[in-house]
Amino acid sequence: MCGIVGYVGGQSALDVVIAGLRRLEYRGYDSAGVAVLADGGLAAAKKAGKLVNLEKELVERPLPAGVTGIGHTRWATHGAPTDANAHPHLDNAGRVAVVHNGIIENFAALRAELAGRGHDLGSETDTEVVSHLLAEAFSSSGDLAESMRQVCRRLEGAFTLVAVHADEPDVVVGARRNSPLVVGVGQGESFLASDVAAFIAHTRSAIELGQDQVVELRRDGVTVTDFAGDPAEVRSYHIDWDASAAEKGGYDYFMLKEIAEQPKAVADTLLGRIDAQGALTMDELRIPQSVLREADKVVIVACGTAFHAGLIAKYAIEHWTRLPCEVELASEFRYRDPILDRRTLVIAISQSGETMDTLMALRHAREQGAKVLAVCNTNGSTIPRESDAVLYTHAGPEVAVASTKAFLTQLVACYLLALYLGQRRGTKWGDEIRAVIKDLSQIAGEVERVLETMEPVRALARSLADKGTVLFLGRHVGYPVALEGALKLKELAYMHAEGFAAGELKHGPIALIEEDLPVVVVVPSPRGRSVLHDKIVSNIQEIRARGARTIVIAEEGDEAVVPYADHLIRIPATPTLLQPLVATVPLQVFACELATARGNEVDQPRNLAKSVTVE
Ligand code: G6P
Repeated sequence: MCGIVGYVGGQSALDVVIAGLRRLEYRGYDSAGVAVLADGGLAAAKKAGKLVNLEKELVERPLPAGVTGIGHTRWATHGAPTDANAHPHLDNAGRVAVVHNGIIENFAALRAELAGRGHDLGSETDTEVVSHLLAEAFSSSGDLAESMRQVCRRLEGAFTLVAVHADEPDVVVGARRNSPLVVGVGQGESFLASDVAAFIAHTRSAIELGQDQVVELRRDGVTVTDFAGDPAEVRSYHIDWDASAAEKGGYDYFMLKEIAEQPKAVADTLLGRIDAQGALTMDELRIPQSVLREADKVVIVACGTAFHAGLIAKYAIEHWTRLPCEVELASEFRYRDPILDRRTLVIAISQSGETMDTLMALRHAREQGAKVLAVCNTNGSTIPRESDAVLYTHAGPEVAVASTKAFLTQLVACYLLALYLGQRRGTKWGDEIRAVIKDLSQIAGEVERVLETMEPVRALARSLADKGTVLFLGRHVGYPVALEGALKLKELAYMHAEGFAAGELKHGPIALIEEDLPVVVVVPSPRGRSVLHDKIVSNIQEIRARGARTIVIAEEGDEAVVPYADHLIRIPATPTLLQPLVATVPLQVFACELATARGNEVDQPRNLAKSVTVE
């Protein structure tokens, strides 16, 4: 949700900040703004719409050159995406500028208080109160970091704040509570951003900011304190990917690049977790073995695509460990008073590690005594930091709003976790685990093969560009795959798309079938659990008899589906439980191509943000 950049150093602050915002635009793109300190004053520009609108504005009305600046790309929560509501927000004297990510819950009371003291608040945002409060605090303390601490102590809600003051031209101050902010440490320059992608082109040395901390950024270093002003311990880390990982690398869209990167992402997520004998090595988990052995229930919490990964994980966990496993939307979890205790193992799945719904769910689980294990793609983000243990996915940075490679790696991580649980609890023999691992090791190559055969899928997608509805059906692990296929189409093509369990068809959804309605069916392998396969072949016949245009995803060699498939998409044969790793890929390509054909912005779909840091 909202991307923030701060810079102080020897370069043009505007150049650094704008380049950083471009890297963060995936977080929000309904308005953008910058502020620089120059010539003893503060100059700001902001514009509704994408970053390019702000860049045009800066060409028409250039800001003075300065070496200290902040910037913001917004995803609106309070107030519509207008020029006035865009960040930064200034105080009445125009000496303080503030950018903000999150929600200040007590802003109405603070606003009334400020108005009572004669402040003139011009926007509809909660952020503006902070610039006015900071200006007041600065007039008595003369110190921006101290002013920030005083103001933060009064704020309720979740926020990352970054501010500059014209009277401290060499300083940028940041604060965070329940919302991401990382520090970049360069040679004679320092950075602040919502995500390291914003400064990776300048430095790979970063510092994690903890909860309720304030950082004062200067050219020659940073000072971190808590909100009370006591020095805070800082944890530095090295960013192990480089700037090219966050570039499009010749692809038209990040999503295309990220789809293509899936074989590597899958292989990287297995790397280091399988020993030379083909057995699992998961020492990195650092979770007491007793927790794994004594757990009597697994609960998975996640949102969006990560939730679909959780639904698939349930099949593997229950099958391999015989532990009951529930999967719950993180946003619903804590409100239904779930039954949790110290024997409950909660798995929180999140690409970004910052999704507020998931964070709140895991906090609730820990308060009830449950142990929480995070599956996450973002090193040092809030969700793994607040969990008891973490298993990182190694997808590399995912920029496109619609998740692709992160999803596949979440599946891999969940399969590994399920096997590890089975190993620790003695429900799986070593040779059984090795057999699954061998299959998993071959999946990267299978995904590669799927990617090589996608041209007919793209052509089919283009031919359906004027359709209004597409339905998706699946059984067993194919059901969450159907849900994910539908979600991708909603997110990207803005089409009415629904995923159903194929068995539910006859209980309602079949009424939706009409002449030429495209229905995508994910067919389980005819090998192994053949009963699943036979049932879904009947389902395909049922919908086809009612006029549906059937788009069938079936493994190579499955001839039974051929007579009923108007379009047949072949995927490599895999064990039943692992099929989502190959079956999801055509659905990603399908949605991406349909969105392109409909003229939509693939990487930045309307109304969506990649990382949703509000509940
Ligand atoms: C947002 C994104 C989705 C993502 C979901 C969960 O809604 O648009 O693509 O699946 O958040 O994100 P997370 O970072 O927790 O996996």
